[in-house]
Amino acid sequence: MTTLLTSVTASQRLDSRGKPTVQVEVRTVDGTFRAIVPSGASKGDYEAVEKRDGGKAFGGNGVLEAVKNVGEIIGPALIAQRFDLGMGLKELDYFMVGLDGSSDKSNLGANAILGVSMACARACAAAKNIPLYEFLARETRLRRQGFVMPVPFLNVLNGGVHSGNPMAFQEFMIAPTGASSFAQGIQWAAEVYQELKSIVAKTFGKAAIGIGDEGGFAPPISQPHEALDLIMAAVKSAGYEGRFKIGIDPASTEFFTEGEYDLGFKSGEPRKLSSTQLMELFQGLVGKYPIALLEDPFAQDDWDSWSAFNKICKGSAVELVGDDLLATNIRRIDKASKADACNSLLLKVNQIGTVSEAISAAERAYELGWSVFVSHRSGETTDDFIADLAVGIGCGHLKSGAPCRGERVAKYNRLMDIEEELEAKKTSCSYAGEAFRYAHTNTKG
Ligand code: PGA
Ligand code: ZN
Repeated sequence: MTTLLTSVTASQRLDSRGKPTVQVEVRTVDGTFRAIVPSGASKGDYEAVEKRDGGKAFGGNGVLEAVKNVGEIIGPALIAQRFDLGMGLKELDYFMVGLDGSSDKSNLGANAILGVSMACARACAAAKNIPLYEFLARETRLRRQGFVMPVPFLNVLNGGVHSGNPMAFQEFMIAPTGASSFAQGIQWAAEVYQELKSIVAKTFGKAAIGIGDEGGFAPPISQPHEALDLIMAAVKSAGYEGRFKIGIDPASTEFFTEGEYDLGFKSGEPRKLSSTQLMELFQGLVGKYPIALLEDPFAQDDWDSWSAFNKICKGSAVELVGDDLLATNIRRIDKASKADACNSLLLKVNQIGTVSEAISAAERAYELGWSVFVSHRSGETTDDFIADLAVGIGCGHLKSGAPCRGERVAKYNRLMDIEEELEAKKTSCSYAGEAFRYAHTNTKG
């Protein structure tokens, strides 16, 4: 039996920053399937383009044109094509890429196309009567033995363009690599988060326990070592010393101007570092703290610094993740591979605009021997799609902010559901733990 789309509609809704975003609803004989798209603040130049209306409403951020494109162009075209959703998502996604016709989805809007792609992925899973994570696993070329639950990297201290404090670096993440299950990892991380809250309140006063866009605290600090000392103290007082690793995403593109990195960009007092000085700063931090992951340590076009630093990191345990550098785009991944610039892909579905292209980007990264790190955006919704994606592609780690704010915990809660479901079904399922970078290599080939 073929499963056809009978209706495709969209609406304007709000994201976690109160900015408009696109919600899509598709119908098949199996039911109604929805998705809502996220949106970044520290966006790179090489991302697929979100359509925004301009004008007065919502400060120009409305998405009514994207909504209209779903209802009047994409939906009717998909229905007319009579795609059989039981056959998978790829054909449908690449049809939308062709329908848009641009290289960056600027004609119809990446926000319009992605909403349809995500909702259709859910409809495809229902057509096969399998969970979304299993459908996404089947959409990859990998044939794994069982499932791997990802290590959560929780952004507990927010800076950069995600908060109002003077900290230039955007994200300080804690990763419970020493836990034995996803649920235990979340418990430990939530306990550390509460300890951190007390320490921040004691050190800076109660007014400092406000949080940033991704649910982490944003105390009045500006030096990376201050953030890391607070985190190490929280891990220690929660009783988990040695069982957490740390990840940092400075989001360096945001403070790169005229060949220099201005760590004072938020305070108005310039504190400019050359690439070499920034590299030394990272090396110092890596030597002192249990840092396992550095994302976007350099700006999206500062290729020489990326390549030089990657050389320095070879042989160390530090994962070098490209976010703005790669934009979940195979062309950028290939360029980075030629330049030997990094060893891991940050995977954000809305950077490329369809689920199938995001999966292809992950497969290319794996082919190169890289790891893949699935990510939310700073502007999120309670849509938990990326939880299933991380399990489906078996990438071993994901970031979805702090264990706080509904749109952040929605993903962690869904992952706990998946872990319980796999255990109940007695499906082989392990927690990636210390081996989070290599989870995907557990394949049948
Ligand atoms: P963004 O931040 O969603 O604001 O781009 C996330 C990140 O830089 O990883
Ligand atoms: Zn990033």
